[in-house]
Amino acid sequence: MNIIFSLAVIFSLLSVSAVSRDVYAADSIKGDKIYQQNCSNCHGTHGVSNISGVADFSRGEGLFKSDVELLKLLQRGKGMMPAYQGRLSDKELLDVIAYMRTLR
Ligand code: HEC
Repeated sequence: MNIIFSLAVIFSLLSVSAVSRDVYAADSIKGDKIYQQNCSNCHGTHGVSNISGVADFSRGEGLFKSDVELLKLLQRGKGMMPAYQGRLSDKELLDVIAYMRTLR
């Protein structure tokens, strides 16, 4: 009886962690699509911008920040870059951030 109860607990814990991983893990493949639609005009398809002085993501420039700091920056916008709060969800922005980290 005890063993069956413990197994039930273990399985329910496993399924809870599997679900929460699906919900919270940033998806760089979705991020790629969002990036190409919203960011590549200015930042280039591979993270190398044609605009002078803009961070080159292929060299990791502009990405020496935590995901949360980048999220806030993108929500607010910076200089010529528009604010994405209300245009892209937090999840979409985190997907884009995960994608940008693959460009290096
Ligand atoms: C209209 C052009 C434009 C678009 C569209 C754009 N950006 Fe930018 N981005 C810029 C410019 C210009 C800067 C430099 C801003 C500055 O330092 O004043 C910048 C800077 C950045 C930085 C570096 C910030 C830093 O601290 O140096 C990141 C990261 C970034 N953009 C990500 C994105 C992402 C992700 C998207 C799409 C969701 C995006 N940008 C869309 C023009 C753009």
